[in-house]
Amino acid sequence: MARGSPTDKDCEMTVALALRNVSKSFGAIRIAGGIELDIRENEAVGILGPNGAGKTTILGLITGTLGLDAGRIEFYGRDLQRLSTEQRCRLGIARAYQVPQPFGDMTVFENLMVGACFGAGQTMAAAQVRCLDILEACGLSSLANAHAGGLTLLNRKRLELARALATKPKILLLDEIAGGLTQHEYDELVALIRKANASGVTIVWIEHVLHALLSVVSRALVLYQGQFIADGDPRDVIRDPKVAEVYMGIETDA
Ligand SMILES: Nc1ncnc2c1ncn2[C@@H]1O[C@H](COP(=O)(O)OP(=O)(O)O)[C@@H](O)[C@H]1O
Ligand SMILES: [Mg+2]
Repeated sequence: MARGSPTDKDCEMTVALALRNVSKSFGAIRIAGGIELDIRENEAVGILGPNGAGKTTILGLITGTLGLDAGRIEFYGRDLQRLSTEQRCRLGIARAYQVPQPFGDMTVFENLMVGACFGAGQTMAAAQVRCLDILEACGLSSLANAHAGGLTLLNRKRLELARALATKPKILLLDEIAGGLTQHEYDELVALIRKANASGVTIVWIEHVLHALLSVVSRALVLYQGQFIADGDPRDVIRDPKVAEVYMGIETDA
């Protein structure tokens, strides 16, 4: 093969998201101390770490709701530094919040339309078709005209995921979406995440409910004191003595 030609392996290893020497502190609390991380296209990666380690903050740095102190974040090789959250969403970065953040005064369907029209830049007609499909897939069809502010926790979580999917994400950043739900309830959300991953969406999922996480991700990272102290096969990572030492209180019924 000619020098410089991409091999099959190179093609498989397209990096979707790259953190380069990323640093972030809040006062004396160091969230990221020169983090280096590559997440490959179509990977499903879990992020673990004790409460307060900075997992949610890392998602904020990626989506741009929080600024970096130093370093660089790239999405398919493009430096995100100067891009707004909206621009990052248009590139294909979607986030589902730990505490669902619906537009409470809008209906469920309108919430999805905001994602599809403004997040993905779709025309109204195309957005409507897409949103109806997503409503159906997420079990929200019967609630299309319901006020988003009045939904139950499960339906708010469904909507959070549905609205993120409506933005046509290339990467889906999920923050503890299983918390507060019964196993039966989050099994349904897990199935949706697996389906998104199977259709090519890269997944980065912060989750304490280990068996939900392990049924989706093939790689786990553990954030502690500003660094990822473990990175690899999830079952090896959770057995890692370093991880056991720092990460107590995890649900271990996997
Ligand atoms: N905007 C902020 N300003 C100041 N401190 C913050 C802010 N956001 C988070 N923190 C602090 O940073 C630490 C990490 O928070 P967070 O990212 O929410 O952790 P995790 O998601 O791992 O539980 C916590 O101590 C939290 O109180
Ligand atoms: Mg958090």
